[in-house]
Amino acid sequence: MRELPFSHRLLDRLVELLAGSSKEVWSRAELARSMEVSPAELTEILAWFKAEGWPLEVGSDQRVWLRAAADIPVASRVRPHLSTNRLGRRYHHTLRVDSTNNAARCLAGDGAAEGTVVVAEEQTGGRGRLGRTWLSRKGKDILLSLVLRPHLDPAQAPGLNLMVGLAASQAIGEVSGIPTDLKWPNDVLTPGGKCCGVLTEMNADPGKIHFVIVGVGINVNGTSLPDAIAGQASILEQAAGGPVPRPKLAAALLNRLEALYLVFLDQGLGPLLERWMASSSSVRGRPVLVSNAGRSLRGTTAGLSEQGALRIRREDGSVAEILAGDVVQW
Ligand code: BTN
Repeated sequence: MRELPFSHRLLDRLVELLAGSSKEVWSRAELARSMEVSPAELTEILAWFKAEGWPLEVGSDQRVWLRAAADIPVASRVRPHLSTNRLGRRYHHTLRVDSTNNAARCLAGDGAAEGTVVVAEEQTGGRGRLGRTWLSRKGKDILLSLVLRPHLDPAQAPGLNLMVGLAASQAIGEVSGIPTDLKWPNDVLTPGGKCCGVLTEMNADPGKIHFVIVGVGINVNGTSLPDAIAGQASILEQAAGGPVPRPKLAAALLNRLEALYLVFLDQGLGPLLERWMASSSSVRGRPVLVSNAGRSLRGTTAGLSEQGALRIRREDGSVAEILAGDVVQW
């Protein structure tokens, strides 16, 4: 990965133009004009873009286009599928970022409105739950973060985690037709393994949430995964037997999220818990090993508590409630 010799914004503008729905094939003069750069600058930007492995095609007449442009979730491709009032109405698409959660957190810190979304084609420092790394493939996945500003007590925030996993599983089912299964707290599984993870990060003072960043990573298209996760993770395209349109999936995720978020704000977590449990084969009656703050607990799952904690029945009949942790064997 080479250092960028020009502004990141120019690159994002290039992708927005090449991947946008208004025009497929561009002359260099049109591109340079729309990007407000000189022909020499454009040549440099296009050369960098191609050398980085992005699928830029150059015709014999020097006109340029992007292969699979319609699968890039830029705003103009996502908007036609969006039915939300708030979520995704401010939408930033970027080619590369360390972590979309970091980018969204910066925007939120600068006052970005609830519903602001950051989507990237590539993450160089993707983060997962419990300090893990989130690995993704450039140009293949959904890497999306969202700013929420819920009027909730910080103690209610774990409920948001469950809500996002449920919304992601609904969106994946709707767009790909693949049956999904939820694993507590918010992993979405296909029969082949985990296809989606959620990282929610909160900025709060006692009694007041300033904002929550909801980060969602979905392995969408392509045929292979990084070696480190190949055994446990799955790709939607493989499970669906064909490519899954990322713009439609990003919009479905935001549509489902907004619908569930309104229920959560209006009626609390109760109605979502019912739906969550109905979408999980492992939340009841499954022998598990749970790791929680360095300690492990063995037992059988016994549903969720009112706060969304996983209830584990130990062999002696006592029940523990796990609010944060990881189910490592199930
Ligand atoms: C997990 O299952 O451990 C959670 C993974 C969350 C990954 C997403 S990708 C978009 C956003 N940006 C990040 O750095 N992480 C989340």
